[in-house]
Amino acid sequence: MNCCPPDSSTILDFKPLTSNNGLRVRRAAHSVDENYKRKYSNATYLMKNLPINHPWNFMQQANVHCAYCDGAYNQSDHPNIKFEVHFSWLFFAFHRAYLYFYEKILGKLIEDETFALPFWNWDSPEGMTIPAMYTDKSTSLYDELRDASTQPPTITDLNYHPNKPKANLSNLIERNLRFMHRQMMSGGRTAELFLGQPFRSGNEPFQGAGSLELAPHANMHRWTGNHSTSLDMGSFGAAARDPIFFAHHSQIDRLWEVWKGLPGGRRENFNDDDWLDSAFLFWDEDLKLVRIRVRDVLDTRKLGYVYEEVPIQWLDMKP
Ligand code: C2O
Repeated sequence: MNCCPPDSSTILDFKPLTSNNGLRVRRAAHSVDENYKRKYSNATYLMKNLPINHPWNFMQQANVHCAYCDGAYNQSDHPNIKFEVHFSWLFFAFHRAYLYFYEKILGKLIEDETFALPFWNWDSPEGMTIPAMYTDKSTSLYDELRDASTQPPTITDLNYHPNKPKANLSNLIERNLRFMHRQMMSGGRTAELFLGQPFRSGNEPFQGAGSLELAPHANMHRWTGNHSTSLDMGSFGAAARDPIFFAHHSQIDRLWEVWKGLPGGRRENFNDDDWLDSAFLFWDEDLKLVRIRVRDVLDTRKLGYVYEEVPIQWLDMKP
């Protein structure tokens, strides 16, 4: 797939915020009001209607994801080896940066600096369906390439896999919660277990995913996308063509914050320069191409946003 974003001869270094008055608040998608829905679908509509070569165009934005995951880039010191952000320690940081710029661009399009993406709160029973805002066919947040069988009120199967027998619906919510407990707590006690394996210059891609990236992250991609074609959400290259991608990843990003605050274990980010200095390029809300490093994204407040606090119901749900 050819999905490299537009190029630029100038690349600026990203500057994190130094003060944080007016933090944007990312809220649970199932509890936002009509006004927010209108605002968000309008912003997405504007993005979809930009000229196709505009770096903010919705497809160009989706292509950024495609380029970083479908082998568009090679490692600069190892031209025969691909650069890839999935299944390694780059996963969380790349997607945080990606959503950051995407959110800022949406805010710019509707001239609202307080605009924040929603998160799909699928680790909580109230959030275990496709949020209503994404199912209204008349808005830009709808995508027809989702599976018909997973439309509301179908409950999400956080451990969905096409080859697995269909989940028994009677206790699916409880099993989802126990699964969350395992992926977040016992399965993710260290940075390597949770964030993923080191991926350094010269390494082949796919060194190993962290617990949450494997599931529910990947499983919920497959569950949401069309089960026979895998489009959109079920495929790397096309996933970000579904606006729900950004609520799914906002949730993943939120769970990274939750993980750092969990009791017990050594739940701290890596302190390794190869990780901290890894960098990605994005078009920003001023139409500049910007280089952002992993070390720039570790504090969401320096990116100007926080998550709404919602109850966490899997803390005591041992598998
Ligand atoms: Cu870059 Cu959810 O994948």
